[in-house]
Amino acid sequence: MASAVQRIGVVGLGAMGAGIAQVGIEAGFEVVGREVTADLADAASGRIGHFLARKVEKGQQTQDESKAALGRLSTTTDLADLATCDLVIEAIVEELGPKRALFVELERICDAEAVLATNTSALSVTEIAAATTRPDRVVGLHFFNPAPLMPLVEVVRAELTSDEAVATALGVVERFGKVAVPCHDTPGFVVNRVLIPLLNDCVRVLDESRVEPQALDLAMTSGAAWPMGPCALLDLVGIDVHVHASEALYGRLREPRMAPPPRLVAMRDAGLLGRKAGRGFYSYG
Ligand code: CAA
Repeated sequence: MASAVQRIGVVGLGAMGAGIAQVGIEAGFEVVGREVTADLADAASGRIGHFLARKVEKGQQTQDESKAALGRLSTTTDLADLATCDLVIEAIVEELGPKRALFVELERICDAEAVLATNTSALSVTEIAAATTRPDRVVGLHFFNPAPLMPLVEVVRAELTSDEAVATALGVVERFGKVAVPCHDTPGFVVNRVLIPLLNDCVRVLDESRVEPQALDLAMTSGAAWPMGPCALLDLVGIDVHVHASEALYGRLREPRMAPPPRLVAMRDAGLLGRKAGRGFYSYG
């Protein structure tokens, strides 16, 4: 029997973590978000408050619903405050070392029955789980950017994940009102295994076909019905995030299409990181 989850911890309140926390409170869960500084935690709460306020302004939510949702969010800088969470979702930096260290801490702090999930997009859930003495309760819960808007969550079964942990994760995704696709722990899981080389191809086409980003985006939105063009999408995801995931997949699969195109690496090195930096393929006011 999968255990009933009431309280969810989210570690790391960047774009993904804050989005996941928002999904949680809107679905009626108590969410404890952890950041390394109070300023970062406050900034994340502010962003969540902004998106909920926009929903009220647009008539998608009442003032009371928005207030109640925000009332279910608390933030902390102390990981120990996640001790009573039934599920913890990790959304920190995409580096194996810090993630493994965090899971060791979470195992020490949380109840033995708690499910520990990682939102990693390109690392091995099995390697993260192996840092703990209870890898059976570790799963991948991979959300897509922006988490409040994108319906999919990949529910990733690592080598030693128990049926019970998978069932708990699936139950939570259902209560989030999201679409779950259960899959095994393979590099890039389902979507990124397809999307990362595809976006790399798009960037290579920019140079080969000698088209501007606007023209490529227009081609893919008008000719393939993509909701947004590949350059706009890379700016949304973050050039640094994409390059990092691309390098991780290339490292694991050794397929040339997985390797980040030099143009993207140069953009990353120059700080043209997309929307969050104000400049990527496009400029943002
Ligand atoms: N969090 C919460 N709410 C948000 C938000 C965010 N990050 N961003 C926007 N919103 C809200 C805003 O309130 C916005 O309304 P206002 O502008 O009126 O305030 C509302 O959502 C609607 O925003 P848009 O008008 O921009 O919505 P849209 O209809 O144009 O759709 C989209 C936006 C859903 C992003 C759509 O363009 C789309 O589906 N794009 C493709 C995204 C995609 O492919 N994501 C996957 C990336 S890959 C990935 O994530 C994997 C990985 O591991 C890196």
